[in-house]
Amino acid sequence: FTPQTLQGKSVIVTAGGTRERLDPVRFLTNDSSGKMGYAVAAAAQQAGANVTLITAPTRLTPPAGVTVVPIQSTTDLANAVLTRFPEADALVMAAAVADFQPLTTADQKIKKTKDNDELILKLKKTPDILAEVAKIKRADQVTVGFAAETQNLLANAQHKLESKSLDLLAANDVSRADIGFNSDDNQVTFIQADGVSDQTPKTSKTRIAAALVAKLATILATK
Ligand code: C5P
Repeated sequence: FTPQTLQGKSVIVTAGGTRERLDPVRFLTNDSSGKMGYAVAAAAQQAGANVTLITAPTRLTPPAGVTVVPIQSTTDLANAVLTRFPEADALVMAAAVADFQPLTTADQKIKKTKDNDELILKLKKTPDILAEVAKIKRADQVTVGFAAETQNLLANAQHKLESKSLDLLAANDVSRADIGFNSDDNQVTFIQADGVSDQTPKTSKTRIAAALVAKLATILATK
């Protein structure tokens, strides 16, 4: 039995690794499996929320009953999030968003020729979705981010929380092979805007998601 702590609330969850197209048959992406985001979507739904899952392609089946919005690129994700956020009570950005996207996408397949032993790809920064969300966020809305770090976990996470005006951030150390990307398990440090922080044990993404949703509900109740 899950307490219905998010009854009647609308929660947007993003998941998976974005795909940045180079040409009709190729893209740049990352190691995200989508498992953490799908687990959060399921936990929020079990807590009674109306869940919209905005998802990059994954191998996973979305939880029954959630509204699924498929996206590919960071630009798609930004549009999907920014149009829906005004109607939402909370946003959980679990998607692994590309930091850079190709400057141009070729209309036709990029060919190798006898002259191009090297191919230089030009990339540009993607929009920071949470930073854009911060600009339109109301006092009654909650935003939650993830921080995948390989060094200086806490300092980087604290900076991210502040710069993106987040209420809660789940930071994990992706340099560890036993947790994080693609693993069924994770270990995160939750950091709240009020300075409270605590570390979960290494456990299933399902349990981490339940802990995240419990914190989200508590924060939302104080708004
Ligand atoms: O800066 P970094 O990518 O580590 O921040 C991680 C958090 O910010 C995640 O919640 C991710 O979904 C979000 N993000 C974003 N827009 C980007 C990059 C990351 O909203 N362009």
